[in-house]
Amino acid sequence: MKPVKIGFLGFGTVGQGAATVIKRNAAEISRRIGRDIIVKSASVRNVNRELDPLLAEVELTTDSESIVNDPEIDVVVEVMGGDEPARTLLTTAIANGKHVVTANKALVACHGAEIFDAAREHGVSVAFEAAVAGGIPVIKSIREGLAGNRIQWVAGIINGTCNYILTEMLEKGREFEDVLEDAKALGYAEADPTFDVEGIDAAHKLTILASIAFGVPLQFEAVYIEGISSISREDTAYARELGYRIKHLGLAIDTGNGIELRVHPTLIPERRLIANVNGVMNAVLVQADAVGPTLYYGAGAGAEPTGSSVVADIMDVVRVASASVENRVPTLAFQHDALVDSHPLKPEEFQTSYYLRILAEDKPGVMADISRVLADEAISIEAIVQKEPVDNSGKLPIVLLTKKITEGSMNNAITKLESLSVIAGKVTRIRMESLGGN
Ligand code: HSE
Repeated sequence: MKPVKIGFLGFGTVGQGAATVIKRNAAEISRRIGRDIIVKSASVRNVNRELDPLLAEVELTTDSESIVNDPEIDVVVEVMGGDEPARTLLTTAIANGKHVVTANKALVACHGAEIFDAAREHGVSVAFEAAVAGGIPVIKSIREGLAGNRIQWVAGIINGTCNYILTEMLEKGREFEDVLEDAKALGYAEADPTFDVEGIDAAHKLTILASIAFGVPLQFEAVYIEGISSISREDTAYARELGYRIKHLGLAIDTGNGIELRVHPTLIPERRLIANVNGVMNAVLVQADAVGPTLYYGAGAGAEPTGSSVVADIMDVVRVASASVENRVPTLAFQHDALVDSHPLKPEEFQTSYYLRILAEDKPGVMADISRVLADEAISIEAIVQKEPVDNSGKLPIVLLTKKITEGSMNNAITKLESLSVIAGKVTRIRMESLGGN
């Protein structure tokens, strides 16, 4: 059969990683799909850039439109990131009858619906494995491997930068700001690290995971988002003393009463495998009714790991190209006319347990005051520990773990605690999940 020709929009780390994998594993890939894959061209800002000799035959151009309009190109791979011009270029490629593969999580999370509609209309495929958890084939696993299950919840460490920072804070007792500088120097965090450390990148990925897990529309705006910039090294250390690790999790939970979509730092029991996923690695834990829990672990970023997902997507779209649209695996796992209105819950309706750190005066009755406030909101205490003072102020940190309660009740309790005269400053609140089943 005639070779498949690929054009890349953007040719940075991921693009070159994917092209290298295609070139190096050409024979293996051809044995799998029965066709050769040729990387014909790539759009770049500077056509004079140095490329690995393996990629010498790739035609470089600054004109992205020439790629999406090239009649020889069968599959367009978008690895430029961001909203525009990626969105318009992909739409043009689709209108020209090309299959598209993208690693752009923001684009899929925020504009996926319109892109998928256009693809259906033109009978082409859109694939986006590389958009979530880099090299881990988690989209394919949930969409196809778990297709017979009803999925109850998904919990993922889906931002390597956050995981690296939290791991360093815990293992080396370092502060957030200090580790962030390292993460930037090592190339993990962007120069503007807001998307990573404030949870937006993870929220894009969670939006996609929730959609394919539950058969609900992509709804980035419904995700509650909290980053890791307010986590202190004391919290990571106190959590460890209590048998927990703090991880930045994306959580999609089908409560039976609506779905919770949330991204925030979370205490999880250290005995869970996912609590021991460290450094820049990613992991996604899926709880499903038939199979039970399954865990997917691997590199969430990097040239060849993410390239591995891009190449698998290219092979997939080539393989199914001759199947009619209705006989392909649905883009969002469920038939497009079978997506259900999911009723995302509001943050006040979320139910979870909490870790609270309260700075209190060293006086008789303080514990009683705290207990009374919590009891008034029907919040049950799981554990309470008084720690050594951290400075000369005479104030003592009190660390509390609670049982499950609505976020609304906890908000009320925190407001009341902060108004007590024996409490100094803000109460630190970190949510807690057992991740132990349904
Ligand atoms: N900035 C992302 C991370 C890279 O830190 O995980 C891949 O999406």
